[in-house]
Amino acid sequence: MEPVNVAIVYYSATGTVHALAQAVAEGAEKAGAHVRLRKVAETAPPEVVGTRPEWVAHLQDTADVAEAALDDLVWADAVLFGAPTRFGNPAGQLRAFIDTTGPLWYQGKLADKVYSAFTASNTAHGGQESTLLALGNTFYHWGGIIVPPGYTDPVQFQSGNPYGASHVAGDGAPGEVSLQAARHQGRRVADTAALLKAGRAA
Ligand SMILES: Cc1cc2nc3c(=O)[nH]c(=O)nc-3n(C[C@H](O)[C@H](O)[C@H](O)COP(=O)(O)O)c2cc1C
Repeated sequence: MEPVNVAIVYYSATGTVHALAQAVAEGAEKAGAHVRLRKVAETAPPEVVGTRPEWVAHLQDTADVAEAALDDLVWADAVLFGAPTRFGNPAGQLRAFIDTTGPLWYQGKLADKVYSAFTASNTAHGGQESTLLALGNTFYHWGGIIVPPGYTDPVQFQSGNPYGASHVAGDGAPGEVSLQAARHQGRRVADTAALLKAGRAA
């Protein structure tokens, strides 16, 4: 059986979600998946980005990360979306990419894939769950198979978010618990996609 294809499509302004995305990729690779790590395009104007040096620095630091294309979604057996919370919702940069998927959705090309999501916020109750659930609304429309982490690994009792890996950026950069939860999510999504692929082939 060929390995499953896992796309990780994320937006990050200051690096938190990017760090989680890399950990998700590690987990999926460890499960044997082919992985594409893709950022979405920055849509904020340079004068807004320029108000925060860490935003400018992160854009420069990730200049070599390939930008997500619709083909990445077609290619994938499973897709994990990552975005920081913005007033309790996914960042508009990720939504802008998702909003270009209408033709794929119409042709049924987004259905029957595995989907999952991860996020970051500045504060503990600042909207991580609402952000992840909002991304879930889209997965329902696509006819996706949503695979959350739940409490399927001991690290989930430390990270405390069954909806998806998440990190409180106000506490600093993601530490081992947040990164381990992200790795677990990537591994679980890849494992589930592999089981589905094997079942369909049988
Ligand atoms: C316009 C805007 C809205 C935000 N809204 C929230 C919010 O509702 N709750 C929260 O805890 N943090 C909020 N934040 C903070 C971001 O979620 C936080 O900086 C982000 O998760 C860091 O991720 P990144 O380093 O990947 O960009 C907001 C930030 C911006 C710029």
